[in-house]
Amino acid sequence: MTEHLAPTELDAAQAKAELTRLADLIGRYNTAYYTHDAPEVSDAEYDALRKRYDAIVALHPESEPAESAAQTVGAAPDNAFGKHRHLVPMLSLDNVFDQTEFEAFISRATRFLGLSEADAQKLAFVAEPKIDGLSISLTYENGRFVRGTTRGDGTEGEDVTANLLTLKDLPQQLEGHAPELIEIRGEVFLSKEHFLALNAAQEAIGRKPFANPRNAAAGSLRQLDPRVTARRPLSLFAYAMGFSSEKQARSHWAYLEQLRAWGFPVNPLSRRLEAASGAEAFFEEIGRARAALSYDIDGVVYKIDDLTLQERLGFAGRAPRWAVAWKFPAEQAITTLRAIEIQVGRTGALTPVAHLDPVNVGGVLVMRATLHNEDEIARKDVRPGDTVQIQRAGDVIPQILAVVPPGPDAPPRAEPFHFPDHCPACGALAVRPEGEAVRRCTGGLTCPAQIVERLIHFVSRNAFDIEGLGERSIREFYEEGLIHTPADIFRLHTHAESIMKRDGWGEQSVRNLMQAIEARRTIAFSRFIFALGIRRIGESNARLLARHYGTYENWVAQLRKAAIIGSDERLELGSITGIGSVIADDLVAFMSEEHNLATLEDLRSFLNITEEEQTSGGPLAGKTVVFTGTLHTLTRQEARAMAERMGAKVSDSVSKKTDLVILGEKAGSKAKKAAELGIDTLDEAGWNDFCASQG
Ligand code: IVH
Repeated sequence: MTEHLAPTELDAAQAKAELTRLADLIGRYNTAYYTHDAPEVSDAEYDALRKRYDAIVALHPESEPAESAAQTVGAAPDNAFGKHRHLVPMLSLDNVFDQTEFEAFISRATRFLGLSEADAQKLAFVAEPKIDGLSISLTYENGRFVRGTTRGDGTEGEDVTANLLTLKDLPQQLEGHAPELIEIRGEVFLSKEHFLALNAAQEAIGRKPFANPRNAAAGSLRQLDPRVTARRPLSLFAYAMGFSSEKQARSHWAYLEQLRAWGFPVNPLSRRLEAASGAEAFFEEIGRARAALSYDIDGVVYKIDDLTLQERLGFAGRAPRWAVAWKFPAEQAITTLRAIEIQVGRTGALTPVAHLDPVNVGGVLVMRATLHNEDEIARKDVRPGDTVQIQRAGDVIPQILAVVPPGPDAPPRAEPFHFPDHCPACGALAVRPEGEAVRRCTGGLTCPAQIVERLIHFVSRNAFDIEGLGERSIREFYEEGLIHTPADIFRLHTHAESIMKRDGWGEQSVRNLMQAIEARRTIAFSRFIFALGIRRIGESNARLLARHYGTYENWVAQLRKAAIIGSDERLELGSITGIGSVIADDLVAFMSEEHNLATLEDLRSFLNITEEEQTSGGPLAGKTVVFTGTLHTLTRQEARAMAERMGAKVSDSVSKKTDLVILGEKAGSKAKKAAELGIDTLDEAGWNDFCASQG
């Protein structure tokens, strides 16, 4: 029986038999679902069948039945890629651009660890080229490759197993002893040669070329049809670990050795550096080697070698404190500025965007660049028609550096650019508060540009992530008057009939959209907060707030009370690590507007907002901890991070809401207050024991 075997275990004959069986089943379920509206199996079961089918086709393309129901377009599940949660989150790296910034990274880490100057000098690193590809997580069970996922939002990625099976570099079975369960992290990339060939082919068939090798790799890995992926020869380098059921090597360098022994390609240019002082020379060496490499790199990653230190350092926001990316300097080019357009963002900010004559900058075609704000335009005196020098630095949007002085025979320049003081989208006054760089439209939710941008943000990937509802459909539905507020998205089904009649929409796509919307009625609290698009509340702050306040009801109630300056609730808001007073002001301002509250309540009525997972997680979840006095074995920063990792909220002052006070040496008034209020205390040794007991 072939159905009990994993795709990788099938030989060609078995693959053929299994594909025929699966194609028949898929055909039958398609008919039941699409023609009779009477599904015979759950969506999950159907998706699993299709995924298995795709995986086998990727391994045995020659065995695919000629007329397979699984090839028909109408049958392709909308969410072709299942979502998968990483056991250990996938994070990104902070960037530095020169020796001074690199040294600042080193001193942040050594200060965090409380290392002496002498010990700091001896800190060993592993340096690796930073591959310009797409990070992936590979899961192995008892040494067998079972799943590969993209990074996604860092917590949850897309299951691209079938496509990854087309990579010849990817070991499907690890050599030697392997843990029961392990996640391996690495970079999937396209070589320079294949990248250029792919772009030439894209252009030949009238498609948009990929902006860079990373986008090309991502586009290739996210192909719905693994046979397309198979034609784009992707490569792999492994470089980090995620979850492991067994303790791994004690140093990163030894871990890279282990990866090689298991059969992974590990970048041969990686090097162990005895001290941070060797970083600059290595950076220059890699910089010289760069052009001759067959793949694109955009810098060098430096990782503290000792894994015990890595563990102590942990993460700050989305990046580790123990690693940094030293990026190559930006690429530059000269072109002509055609026009300056003023765009209006979701918070009403008026942003000037430069339209340029297309120019190639380090392999990427650039047509637009940011001009930041009106002062920047005035300072650089940029005018339409000018010849300008532009630069592109990695992920950053291209910027205009300067105007190239016109030659003696150049035609006269245009008039100096006049920044509008009215919103180009709604005509409302655009004001610029004193001391701020940005001019904002005062139209609020009467300004169509702001409404549309907010709606686009609301459905975006790290917010509600509604599949099939992209920028274009949002604009279209807004212009037709179908949606105006976020809650209207959940009322869209009442317009299903009329949407179906629109160009580009059919019965099936509308049905898929409605299902995708329905599926998002249950949403994590932090995503919900992020989706609201409140000024300065990005993903990381949204998570802090969700973790701190726990539930939507509590959050709204507390923030309303926080409107009173000096109230306990205001102090509490400002004392959340990472929030600070400016962000607190923005939040309070948002909650004080009646129309925002009405929007929230309307939206709330459609949703099931789930509590933040981390809150229920750590041993100190929901507890408020205060550190006071001098600590000897830890720095204050490290102690704070340890508490937060265990789910605690760290505060600077003792109040009746405090649950635990850690008393360092010479703890003064806070110790007294804790005693008065009868709050639990621990000394430093007690705290360390507690942390150790929590693993
Ligand atoms: S380590 C927690 N090593 O760069 C640290 N990342 O800018 C995990 N990248 O998301 C990353 N080469 O996609 C690491 N040798 C390397 C890398 C590398 C490329 C990518 C990776 C990461 C991004 C951050």
